Amino acid sequence: DWTSDVFIDATIDELKEKIGGDKVVMGLSGGVDSSVAATLIHRAIGDNLTCVFVDNGLLRKNEYEEVLDSYKYLGLNVIGVDAKQRFYDALAGKSDPEDKRKAIGNTFIEVFDDEAHKIQGVKWLGQGTIYPDVIESVSVNGPSATIKSHHNVGGLPDFMKLKVVEPLNTLFKDGVREVGRALQIPENIIGRHPFPGPGLAIRILGDITPAKVAILQEVDHIFIQGLKDDKLYDSVWQAGAILLPVQSVGVMGDERTYEQVIALRAVTSVDGMTADWVHLPYEFLGKISNEIINKVKGVNRVVYDISSKPPATIEWE
Ligand code: XMP
Repeated sequence: DWTSDVFIDATIDELKEKIGGDKVVMGLSGGVDSSVAATLIHRAIGDNLTCVFVDNGLLRKNEYEEVLDSYKYLGLNVIGVDAKQRFYDALAGKSDPEDKRKAIGNTFIEVFDDEAHKIQGVKWLGQGTIYPDVIESVSVNGPSATIKSHHNVGGLPDFMKLKVVEPLNTLFKDGVREVGRALQIPENIIGRHPFPGPGLAIRILGDITPAKVAILQEVDHIFIQGLKDDKLYDSVWQAGAILLPVQSVGVMGDERTYEQVIALRAVTSVDGMTADWVHLPYEFLGKISNEIINKVKGVNRVVYDISSKPPATIEWE
């Protein structure tokens, strides 16, 4: 019978055997998979594991600080890298969704490679790959989405020439969560909704500016905090807000306004491949809409996305 304790003991033994006294570098995303994988590797080899957590300027409000604190609490040897400006520079003027993804992926590789270079004698790259990623061979979450193993080794960044260690590649998400709880990883990481690697950049339709990111962070925070306060967060698989490239007319006092429109999205899903929109209570939606419009300058209208996947996708880009 599979139990998380047996898995943990066996995996730590295997990791010790495999890695020996070598050094490992690993990119963390703040998500469940990379956090659990890093904790297991850390249990096996301690501070021979160096973790890298990058602020790409596209994270949720306060997420960088909160996640970094959680990692420190877990005792991980983690380097936080503020690379916001590098990502904004790479994204400047780009509106096409795939161009934006490429710019973010390439910048992540550059930033990560710079950090990996600073570690003397590193031999391994840790990854949070889980079993469904192995089957699809496309990881949808976290840095593993941008760090793919390549057949063609010439000309690759140095860290891609490293041997790969993936302690979770036999587990499904539920198993990963169980293992994470047994490792006493905080619930704010274990129960976290999936969040795309390109972050808020694919929820801001059109080009990215720091000002747009700031607006969306405020809106998203109100929505997500509202879901938590009303005990709806755990019954939703993934939720977020989208900043539309549309202005609409509104009225405030005696003044006509002409401001941004926000779409809210909340879905249920098992694996992200199909999804249904969540029938959130009208009172909740009304309250959140009011709070967003009252508190976030530049937004005067909120709509709710009632499309399922397929044919819509979870993200708008
Ligand atoms: P879609 O929008 O394709 O999303 O229905 C399915 C799941 O994948 C996430 N997603 C991404 N994750 N890089 C990622 O790491 C990406 O480029 C990306 N695009 C979508 C999405 O948030 C959802 O969980």
